[in-house]
Amino acid sequence: MIKGNMKRHREYWESVRDYDKEVFSVYKALRSNPVKAALKNRPKKYKVAYLGVGSGFMLPFLSRKFSKVYAVDFSKTLLDRCKSEFVKFENIEYINADFRDLRKIKEKVDIVISVNSILPPSIKDKMKILKQISKMTKRNGLFIGILPSADVVIYRVMLEIDNLIRKGYSEKRALKKWEEFLDRKSFSPLGFHTDDYDSITQKYWYPFEIRFRLKDAGFKSIKIGKAYYKWSYCKDNCYGYFPGKEGSWDWFVTARKK
Ligand SMILES: C[S@@+](CC[C@H](N)C(=O)[O-])C[C@H]1O[C@@H](n2cnc3c(N)ncnc32)[C@H](O)[C@@H]1O
Repeated sequence: MIKGNMKRHREYWESVRDYDKEVFSVYKALRSNPVKAALKNRPKKYKVAYLGVGSGFMLPFLSRKFSKVYAVDFSKTLLDRCKSEFVKFENIEYINADFRDLRKIKEKVDIVISVNSILPPSIKDKMKILKQISKMTKRNGLFIGILPSADVVIYRVMLEIDNLIRKGYSEKRALKKWEEFLDRKSFSPLGFHTDDYDSITQKYWYPFEIRFRLKDAGFKSIKIGKAYYKWSYCKDNCYGYFPGKEGSWDWFVTARKK
């Protein structure tokens, strides 16, 4: 069952007090930052939009690198925090908006970046967001995203089950334990995942769906890779701990506007 509409999502993000403690930090977790790498040789004159500011980790980097940065978020709390922390970065314009309606940004940009911020489970909301992104991107402009991976939840469960079997559990008991985990987390095969504490369902993505929906929204040359996380960070942050095994990942996506 999907819990929480977009209003509830916004309330959740408004309520975050200590961002670094309460929220999984993609940037602390990443082994290396593919978003920065993808932005490396882009012209200074470019205008970019960063969707979902969170703690604002990327904003100083984007501000130094590009002529104009639109920092967009529906959480006024998070935007205000970034605004006061990054006062000296004068080319950042803060836009308080829901990604489903980005008309407040009056010009098209060269690059739109979203790091784990396209999260609504509703197909209608997801498509609205992707179409808005497409609309605000110049022809042949770039979408660069990290999208939560649905596969990695099942990957973790596989590793955990194998671990229990190695410890002497019967296959049946091991499976039961981790099926219960998926139930508790309300993980759905459709890639929905309900946060235990806040009762909002967020979208986790499969590569075929990313390709399908980006194409539908007007993108081409869609490339999907893995943005790997460090086991040392994942350990206490819901992805398990399996050093030596392939790391957990979210999807790193680039696409061009048709
Ligand atoms: C998981 S955080 C990611 C933040 C940042 N990109 C990072 O990786 O550290 C999601 C961010 O997107 C914002 N957000 C989520 N859905 C949104 C929406 N529909 N419209 C505007 N902002 C949204 C949240 O307020 C939050 O700042």
